[in-house]
Amino acid sequence: MKNFINQEACTQCRLCVEICPCHIYGVNEQRKVYIISGREAICQLCGQCMAVCKPEAIIVDGLSYKHDFFPLPENHVDYKSFMDFLATRRSVRKFTGKPVSDEVMNQILDAIAFAPFGAMPEKMHITAINNRAVIEKSLPYVIEFLDNVVRWMKNPIASLLIKIKNPAETYNTLRNHLYPILKSVDYKGGDGDRITRNAPALLIFHAEKGSEEHTDNALIYCTYAMMAAHSLGLGTTMNGIIPPAINKEKELKEFFGIPEDHEAVISLIMGYPKYKYQKAIRRKNCQVHWIA
Ligand SMILES: Cc1cc2nc3c(=O)[nH]c(=O)nc-3n(C[C@H](O)[C@H](O)[C@H](O)COP(=O)(O)O)c2cc1C
Repeated sequence: MKNFINQEACTQCRLCVEICPCHIYGVNEQRKVYIISGREAICQLCGQCMAVCKPEAIIVDGLSYKHDFFPLPENHVDYKSFMDFLATRRSVRKFTGKPVSDEVMNQILDAIAFAPFGAMPEKMHITAINNRAVIEKSLPYVIEFLDNVVRWMKNPIASLLIKIKNPAETYNTLRNHLYPILKSVDYKGGDGDRITRNAPALLIFHAEKGSEEHTDNALIYCTYAMMAAHSLGLGTTMNGIIPPAINKEKELKEFFGIPEDHEAVISLIMGYPKYKYQKAIRRKNCQVHWIA
């Protein structure tokens, strides 16, 4: 089946023409909405046209009103409750031993489907690990990667090569953020698990290298998972160390069953927070440049 407009049902309101991100719909001389020839191929299956269409006159190939849509719920979140929700989220670095049920994991994963996305969201993969023993087994590989980072940064030639071969962001993050931490912290487990913080669950966001906008998509999806976990009483921390370890240490990639041609972007440790914070934090915001 191809994308289809039921002309008998269509009221020619043209909302689909207005909102389609890929400009798939046009209006012909008879003022009928039609699918512009050849543009179906660029449809992202975002579902917006079907969601906005009151008479349900549009069928996008691969989507159905029965399975992929549901009645629009009330939005109960006002600004105050949204800000309270944000202010009460913390990156959690100490978890209770309580495991996360698969049901709760699925609730968290379900929230990701509501996230905005750039190109080709179907190319994003999430490896969901709900097993502390597996996470623990992965730690020696991550530690090996961190040992390498320390070695590389100490060595002026290796450090220069990293600088030349990688984007400035990677080098600056290693040199100015990670390396100073690694030099002063026992990341090898002497002070406990400083990497995954005894978290019982871990999400890894990855995609085939070079996939369209996968870095942006991964970070947004991870943020949605983080917020969903918070709404369910769980704590999380985004972890930016595990992904480069996966990308550099072949055995770790294999250990997690991540395809060789994939690149990990971000990970999220999850569990039930051990401590309650007494205060919300009012941080300095980004540097905002107004043009009014
Ligand atoms: C891209 C990214 C990577 C991060 N990586 C780590 C990490 O590897 N280890 C860690 O403890 N926290 C990590 N964090 C969490 C931040 O350090 C944390 O957000 C910060 O401490 C502020 O605390 P808050 O989230 O409670 O506001 C990361 C956050 C982001 C956005």
